[in-house]
Amino acid sequence: MTDELALWAEIDLGAIKRNVQRVKAMLQPGTALLNVVKANAYGHGEVETARAVIEGGADWLGVARVEEGAALRNAGIDKPILLLAEPPAGAVEAAVAHGLTPSIYTEATLHAFDSASRAAEKTTNVHLKVDTGMHRYGVPARSVNAFIDLIDSLEGLNLKGLWTHFAVAEEVANSFTQQQHKLFAEVVDSLGERANGLIRHICNSAGTLTLPEGHYDMVRAGIVTYGIHPSPALAPLVKLEPAMSLRSRVGLTKWLEAGEAISYGQRYTMEQDGFVSTVPCGYADGLRRSLTNSGEVLIRGKRYRISGTITMDHFLVDTGQEELEVGEEVVILGCQGDECISAQEMADRIGTIPYEVVCGISSRVTRVYVDSPGY
Ligand SMILES: Cc1ncc(COP(=O)(O)O)c(C=O)c1O
Repeated sequence: MTDELALWAEIDLGAIKRNVQRVKAMLQPGTALLNVVKANAYGHGEVETARAVIEGGADWLGVARVEEGAALRNAGIDKPILLLAEPPAGAVEAAVAHGLTPSIYTEATLHAFDSASRAAEKTTNVHLKVDTGMHRYGVPARSVNAFIDLIDSLEGLNLKGLWTHFAVAEEVANSFTQQQHKLFAEVVDSLGERANGLIRHICNSAGTLTLPEGHYDMVRAGIVTYGIHPSPALAPLVKLEPAMSLRSRVGLTKWLEAGEAISYGQRYTMEQDGFVSTVPCGYADGLRRSLTNSGEVLIRGKRYRISGTITMDHFLVDTGQEELEVGEEVVILGCQGDECISAQEMADRIGTIPYEVVCGISSRVTRVYVDSPGY
């Protein structure tokens, strides 16, 4: 199946299902699970991942954009879908038509959803997002009651949920998360009976793992779904299986002499005579150019350093006296034999977070789906 591919991202739907089951097993009784599948399911493939998380036990799906929700609906997925951010005015009609549940925090969007819903002779369920300190989006805590008055006055809308988002939940020692939680709890208290029946949710993956008292009625789990911990410090809290690996094959092997320099900019010079292989994976595929002369890959179960500048479509590896065959597998992300290169390792090398590593695998890379039975 991968014979014709120079490079592919293997996505293990079995791993995704088991990750969902493990996270679900950690939830407080009565807490629902929303799996975040925005950004092409963090690079894993939106529709395939959505089906897998539903099989694993997801109750809700979360997306950032109306187009993402529409793609799920067009694929026949009928689970509740939460839009995590307000759409632009021009996308409101489509959001209503697809039965997406918007998160709302501005009056303009509230009115736009009310009009579109009434025009479609529908009532749209909405969730109100409260800003408890992240200051990205949200209604300030002091204005929540007045905002709900407005929602209640609009015939096309039905308030069904109340939520906030953490800024630093993966930093276990940072008390800001508790502060945000406290403010959210105060908002809920201030609503009195108005809060009855609302789906309250505040936890992302890190909050889900570290703050059981914050599970409320639902959690919104993203990165754990994909088998990646929000930070290495949280790894002991749940066993996860990374779902994505990035694989390629040796494209060409040549013998070079000591002193010869390879690739653009001649940033790598052969110290000794030896073999150099070219591998068809480059920065256009999401392999960051800053891994030049520093990133590692797995070949024959061993680590090799990327040698010289990563180009748009290729990188090179000095394998010394080891002569690789054309077509041999090269693992850029994932495991081969007993060795593994994790998204966290790659992220550490380039000074980012593993989220960016998996989201950054470009659309040119074919996703190949497998469904492993687990271990
Ligand atoms: C509003 C919201 N909730 C939940 C998540 C999931 O976060 P994580 O992937 O850390 O679980 C995100 C991700 O960015 C988000 O924006």
